[in-house]
Amino acid sequence: MEKQNITLHVNGIPLQLQVWPQTSLLQLLRDEIHLTGTKNGCGRGHCGACTVVVNGRAVRACITRAARLDGAQVETIEGLAQGGELHPLQQAFIDQGAVQCGFCTPGMIMAAKALLDGNPQPTHEDIVKALTSNLCRCTGYASILRAVHAAGDTGPTFTEAVVRGAQAQIIGQAVPRPDARAKVTGEAIFAADLYFENMLHAKILRSTHAHARIVRIDTAKARALPGVAAVLTAEDIPGARTHGTIRADWPTLCWDKVRYTGDALALVAAETEAIAEHAVSLIEVDYEPLPAVFSPQQAQAPDAPIVHENTPGNLLKHIRVRKGDAKSAFGQSDIVVAEHYRTPFIEHAYLEPEAGVAVPGADGRITVHVGSQIPFEDRRQVAEALAVPEEDVRIVQTAVGGAFGGKEDITVQIPAALLARAT
Ligand code: FES
Ligand code: FES
Repeated sequence: MEKQNITLHVNGIPLQLQVWPQTSLLQLLRDEIHLTGTKNGCGRGHCGACTVVVNGRAVRACITRAARLDGAQVETIEGLAQGGELHPLQQAFIDQGAVQCGFCTPGMIMAAKALLDGNPQPTHEDIVKALTSNLCRCTGYASILRAVHAAGDTGPTFTEAVVRGAQAQIIGQAVPRPDARAKVTGEAIFAADLYFENMLHAKILRSTHAHARIVRIDTAKARALPGVAAVLTAEDIPGARTHGTIRADWPTLCWDKVRYTGDALALVAAETEAIAEHAVSLIEVDYEPLPAVFSPQQAQAPDAPIVHENTPGNLLKHIRVRKGDAKSAFGQSDIVVAEHYRTPFIEHAYLEPEAGVAVPGADGRITVHVGSQIPFEDRRQVAEALAVPEEDVRIVQTAVGGAFGGKEDITVQIPAALLARAT
């Protein structure tokens, strides 16, 4: 395979570029041109976070091959504001409170721009249809739809709303988020937007079994691959091998057995993401499958397999919730209904994938940039894993692309710090 020469006009600027046939427009924009306002939520065409405008049409950059765009006009969120003046859509998103975590915002605005450029006064149905490929996990969409309406016709601006508010009342009026401008212009920095000179890329080998004893992990082929800077297993963790916010029972890298499909086994750092991915595929693991549990009820059966050896009954925690005297209330009731009630399993489903960058300092300290919910907990756990004092670890909180409680645990923080230290 050979690289191809293409010319792209990105936000009006002609660029001569060389791209691999498989390079996506999203990779080109983010990794080569460093226009990171366009976000990578899923990389597979499902979320719309990567939406840009190509030759007047909204496209998902993650599933658009750059090599096919020779001569194209590409508009990204960075090109919208002119001379410091926000585009009406950007202003409307601020005015209408349509920006929360902001991760979906650039894609939403670009999808809306493609609509309004061709149809300045769209109907509600037109707007819904134009945004149908764009997901937002935070806003509930109503404010986004209002914003597009406002930008498309004569909806009130924030200033007008404030004036009206002053005439009527102040309390209860909308105020813009302090970070809204950065989020509508693509300037807000999320962890995956960070680039450092000579930055390495990391990948994690994950278990394919729900419960299995680890018989052998062989990393020799991965280590021998050109471009690989480090391959780490649990043996390479200098400090605590497990972490956890409630109880430290979660192995950063498993050494004796895996306890869920996806448990981490080995880390790779390499010069490119593709090399890291290839290296991960070269790591050999022999498993001895064990009986697994797949529901809380099954886990509590008397003969259930024990997931964590030091946790009898597979019980992490028992929280008593009691209010009033239920027994006597039942005794006085005409009818008592006994039933099992369930709520569905709900994933937090934030749009921003977990990401982080660890930077070793010349003084031996490590800085981890991450979009997390509990930076001080992160610092404690990273320090324990590295076996260093907490003051040798600094956690820098980036913008967080949604979390909803799902970014409290360690995900990339310790792996990134271990690899940074090793390399
Ligand atoms: Fe492209 Fe999700 S649709 S990143
Ligand atoms: Fe839309 Fe957070 S504001 S995903």
